[in-house]
Amino acid sequence: MVPLKALPLFYLVACAVALPKIPLSKRKDILASMKRTGVLDNIDRLKMQTAKTKSKIQSGIAAFERNTGSIHPAVSGFRGQFAATSNNPAPEKLAATSKRATASEPLTDFEEDLWFGTITVGTPPQTLTVDFDTGSSDTFLPAVGCDATCDGHTLYDPAASSTAVNTTDPFFLQFGAGNATGFVFTDTVTIAGLTAQSQAVGASNHYSVEFEVDNFPPDGLVGMAFPALAVFGDNPLFTTLADQGTVPPVFGVKLADTGSELFLGGVDTALFTGAFRNVSLIEEDFYALNLQALDVNNKVVATANGVVAIVDTGTTLLIGDDEGVEILYSAIPGSKDASAILGPGFFTVPCNRIPTVGIELGNQVFNVAPAIFNLGVLEGNDCVGGVTSLDGVPFWVLGDIFLRNFYTVFDQGNARVGFATLR
Ligand SMILES: *[C@@H]1O[C@H](CO)[C@@H](O)[C@H](O)[C@H]1NC(C)=O
Ligand SMILES: *[C@@H]1O[C@H](CO)[C@@H](O)[C@H](O)[C@H]1NC(C)=O
Ligand SMILES: *[C@@H]1O[C@H](CO)[C@@H](O)[C@H](O)[C@H]1NC(C)=O
Repeated sequence: MVPLKALPLFYLVACAVALPKIPLSKRKDILASMKRTGVLDNIDRLKMQTAKTKSKIQSGIAAFERNTGSIHPAVSGFRGQFAATSNNPAPEKLAATSKRATASEPLTDFEEDLWFGTITVGTPPQTLTVDFDTGSSDTFLPAVGCDATCDGHTLYDPAASSTAVNTTDPFFLQFGAGNATGFVFTDTVTIAGLTAQSQAVGASNHYSVEFEVDNFPPDGLVGMAFPALAVFGDNPLFTTLADQGTVPPVFGVKLADTGSELFLGGVDTALFTGAFRNVSLIEEDFYALNLQALDVNNKVVATANGVVAIVDTGTTLLIGDDEGVEILYSAIPGSKDASAILGPGFFTVPCNRIPTVGIELGNQVFNVAPAIFNLGVLEGNDCVGGVTSLDGVPFWVLGDIFLRNFYTVFDQGNARVGFATLR
């Protein structure tokens, strides 16, 4: 197996089209760069990351309910909607991995993907790095005056920006073990050469441990989902750009070992081949799709009814509910429940027979390559699978383990997400 620890850093380039009146072929400039970093050598850190996903999603759902006055559709009646198929007749209780270990046992082959790039905030511009997260909708940064939890990050200084306005609205974002808090400002934000005026930015005076520099190399986070999820109740950065006519409401993402890129205002035709296989959004809050079935080695092993899957660049793993994940692994001969070693939700598969796991969306099968699915050797012939379950997350989360297999277009204007073959 590839020694993931030895992976170099990757510098990623992003491009965007200019004003909508200019044809797409006239896209110009290298507009933002993203790089991939962070080798995960500790299971605790992976768990911290999944806990962060859970609280992020719960915060988004709570914000949806405040913003819209409705219950989020994914929350009502999720459970019990997977059914094993005749290929996989009787989900059995899986054997447990044999060896016990502590929760902090290092797993050197685990890898964390964190994709980030640069934005500038304020006048004159202050440069900070951010994680681009399609699973949330707020922008927040560590700010001058933050306590020791922001140490090591570059700090946003609203007092040094002539365009900064303190809305005086406090914000509170719950993340796993802690919270990020501060006041919402509006300021000028430039991403990839495109400028948003009066963008809501959370100026944090406290960070939760998940965002401390050792766990989170970029300074802040830019949520790339829809306004309904915004905890601040303000438009996300990309929505502001699109509403202000700066860019068409579509962006493309390549997350891969090399040449990764966020492309604003269209798709980068140099990075994929063939046509997109598009899937309509069933909601415009998260990028939410209808998950139809799970496959193993190109056979359907579970059908799903009313299960929502969200497309999330801000999550490393492919996360599902307990029931669906149990059915999936029970269809993989030799798989084991690894919860005794790794904690709840983790499973292993035989290293010499890594399966091809497929996710069915929009009547099409999207396969996860075995080399991407395999997170690394746990012990002997047991390799950790990239699909895990997370109690309390009311739907599936298609994180990097899924997204690294495709070039992905997030087409807000046409309410769809599309996947093409990486070049
Ligand atoms: C923003 O306004 C709040 C509420 O008035 C205040 O407590 C806070 O100190 C202000 N922040 C800055 C950086 O001026
Ligand atoms: C937010 O985090 C701080 C620091 O960890 C903690 O003291 C506080 O109780 C938390 N607030 C809530 C409402 O959870
Ligand atoms: C799929 O979506 C992409 C991006 O929005 C678009 O260019 C393409 O035409 C769509 N394909 C179909 C068949 O609708």
